[in-house]
Amino acid sequence: MKLDPRRDKITLADLQACAAGGRRFAMLTAYDFAMASQAQAAGVPVLLVGDSLGSVLLGQESTRGVPLDLIVTLAEAVRRGAPQVYLVGDMPYVAMQGGRDSILAAARRFRDEARCDAVKLETGRADADSVAALHADGFTVIAHLGLCPQQVETRAELRAQARDAEAIRILVADCSEMVARGADMILLEAVPNEAASAVVAAVDVPVIGCGAGPACHGHVVVTHDMLGIGDGRPPRFVPVLASVGRDIEAAMATYVEQIGDGTYPGPEHVYGMRKAATPS
Ligand code: KIV
Repeated sequence: MKLDPRRDKITLADLQACAAGGRRFAMLTAYDFAMASQAQAAGVPVLLVGDSLGSVLLGQESTRGVPLDLIVTLAEAVRRGAPQVYLVGDMPYVAMQGGRDSILAAARRFRDEARCDAVKLETGRADADSVAALHADGFTVIAHLGLCPQQVETRAELRAQARDAEAIRILVADCSEMVARGADMILLEAVPNEAASAVVAAVDVPVIGCGAGPACHGHVVVTHDMLGIGDGRPPRFVPVLASVGRDIEAAMATYVEQIGDGTYPGPEHVYGMRKAATPS
């Protein structure tokens, strides 16, 4: 059965069934009400309020500066816009730095304030206890491995991972460990298809790829990159399916022009006066 948030609320069981049945599912990022509403209307089953908002919305060099309050507030807006999607909150660097209790506290905010269905953590063996603690507390956890942008301070340092046999062996072992400690899904960023295939074969949970090739069960990209909004240099794995950035610029230029030449506001944009009451 096709996942359709216009018809049903999407659940973890739906994503698991999809993966088990060899079907793929789509996932996109969303950071606001309007984009979330459009995503749900388009039938996108899974949305991630990603800490990529640090670069996309805030123009920062890395994702490290994303405040917890901000990402939770934006997750609330996304949930209002897309009540039926499977909603994932991204654990920001600031919460990861605080260790297990801070991660648990942030996860509760994603669940209780934004009604997120799952939390995603950029993780490795060092954070295995936090994954286990989240699982024990009833959270659905997505373990993000491969390229973990929170590990770098500048965009120039973002590089594909697991590109040789030994690195793939370590990645598979790390993913298996995450699943053993309670991760319900794995997200692999910027790894070759050989690495993703090996992980898919080794774990019995859905594997989501972000630039990880066709073997993955789900696929996610940053929505702004896919829509052609931004600096025009999206990662190579992004399908650029629109040129919304160009359309926005053209519309804004027309607006400036119309104000300059007096075309706007025209008669159709102006409120009329109330008709004066006729004396009897
Ligand atoms: O923050 C984000 O948007 C992400 C995805 C691109 C995987 O982590």
